[in-house]
Amino acid sequence: MVSLIGAGPGDPDLLTIKALRCIEQAEVVVHDRLVSDEILNLIPQGIPKIYAGKGCGRHSMTQDEINQTLVNLANSGRRVVRLKGGDPFVFGRGSEEAMILKKENITFEVVPGVTSGIAASAYAGIPVTHRALSRGVLFVTGHFKNNEEVDLDWKGMANPELTLVIYMGLHNLSMITSNLIKHGLTPSTHAAVIENGTSSHQRKCIATLSTLEQQVAQQGLTSPALIVVGKVVGLSSELEWFESLNEEDTPPVSATLSYP
Ligand SMILES: C[S@@+](CC[C@H](N)C(=O)[O-])C[C@H]1O[C@@H](n2cnc3c(N)ncnc32)[C@H](O)[C@@H]1O
Repeated sequence: MVSLIGAGPGDPDLLTIKALRCIEQAEVVVHDRLVSDEILNLIPQGIPKIYAGKGCGRHSMTQDEINQTLVNLANSGRRVVRLKGGDPFVFGRGSEEAMILKKENITFEVVPGVTSGIAASAYAGIPVTHRALSRGVLFVTGHFKNNEEVDLDWKGMANPELTLVIYMGLHNLSMITSNLIKHGLTPSTHAAVIENGTSSHQRKCIATLSTLEQQVAQQGLTSPALIVVGKVVGLSSELEWFESLNEEDTPPVSATLSYP
């Protein structure tokens, strides 16, 4: 049995109860780079943890090797937990792993996680939709192989009625903002970058399409980071809550949670 689990975006209290139950019953865990230490610490002592992270330019295992590892571990009869950042089916290659397991007749389950695109935005005071400001939200990848210009639907994306949430796009920020302006969004459109969203290291830059690149460089924001574009970003200062919390306002749920 393999459980493909979303570990959420960073704040360990955003882990689901189902995910926690699976982690507690794991016999071996294969985890990605973006799974926080707090969550790895929930794995019972003595359970092997296999790192299968992929950082920019430092792949520990290829995807084929990860797939084969999951198959081998499952065939050894152990209960395997595959832990991924955010949600396993949102830019997480969880579906590719599920396809291999299916092909090999290995039983698997998918435990959805809280995706960073929604959670990091919320922790930055940005609702991804808001009546009269945004009719919908597009989740897109900003990762292009070898920085080549990718054939994205820039015209469809440059729609002022929508919110854009761009994963893995920080390295291509300049190309993304200039294409959105070229295809119709005004340079004054609100835009943000959120780094390490929902974690205690969260940082954010709230700007416009024309100023975002410069301000992000000034603040020195790095990955993991999301780009959020649209009118809803303008609500960020009004709805800001996370950075102004005091520690005593929020005892971590994990410290108090008791469940059957
Ligand atoms: C390979 S994708 C995985 C996305 C993940 N499955 C999810 O649902 O959030 C990795 C990208 O997700 C975004 N990301 C993940 N966690 C993040 C966080 N805590 N804060 C900001 N961005 C994050 C970044 O754009 C990062 O480059």
